[in-house]
Amino acid sequence: MIDLKFKYKDLLEYLKSEIPFNPEITLILGSGLGDFAERIEVTKTISTNDIPGYPQSTVTGHKGFLHFAEIDGKKTLIFQGRIHIYEGYSIDQAILPAFIAKQLGSVKLLVTNAAGGVNVNFKPGDLMLVTGFLSQNIKMELASIFPVPTLEQRNNLNNLPSKPFNKVIKKAALEEKIELKEGVYWFGKGPSYETPAEIIMQRRFGADAVGMSTVQEAIYAGFYGIEVSSISLITNYASGLSPEKLSHQEVMDTADLAKGKFELLVKRIISLL
Ligand code: HPA
Repeated sequence: MIDLKFKYKDLLEYLKSEIPFNPEITLILGSGLGDFAERIEVTKTISTNDIPGYPQSTVTGHKGFLHFAEIDGKKTLIFQGRIHIYEGYSIDQAILPAFIAKQLGSVKLLVTNAAGGVNVNFKPGDLMLVTGFLSQNIKMELASIFPVPTLEQRNNLNNLPSKPFNKVIKKAALEEKIELKEGVYWFGKGPSYETPAEIIMQRRFGADAVGMSTVQEAIYAGFYGIEVSSISLITNYASGLSPEKLSHQEVMDTADLAKGKFELLVKRIISLL
């Protein structure tokens, strides 16, 4: 088992000396959704380049900043940029945003991502509230960073994603008159997008959307009792569902078009928490 507190001793010491406050809520911004951080008033921004031991994101659309902001009076930590396993990083690096959220005392975590639509009723630009995670293919790796779980920790994933938190998100969407689809998120390790046959399999197994992030952070935080919810922006039809070839550029372009409603929704969610 990797002792994360020991491994990230310098990182934690640095953050604890720099942070303006302990955040109640943590928000992780997915591919192309990072602009949110540029449209709110932030109290303090820390570049991940300055944090000892923090890996650098190599993906376009993922900047490396931690922002501290009071949104509607709620102390919020925002990760603009995240760490993916498909970039070659290990699980103990990919969970860092969730680890930091926990160490700084956050009690809620909202994880956002860009995802491909597996459900044939979804189209690019839709927002999907995650009602479940299919993450079997990452569980073994997570075992290397968890201590032997207590009985309570064993059961914590029963509330992943958090039902009460999801209720708040649905209320926020209603108030903002934003259509919110609901569905199950399938985690794919990448680095490539899926084959058409894999998408057929995923749909049969109950998936509605597929992406290469989020579950490592969600499971890590959920294990420690943090309330976690997640919203996917459907940026493309999943492999085989459209004649177009999938590209990261398409993901970024759709995210660009949908970020207005995404920002309204996230602000409303935080104000309702
Ligand atoms: N597959 C996997 N990850 C993704 C996709 C996809 O179609 N779109 C955005 N992230």
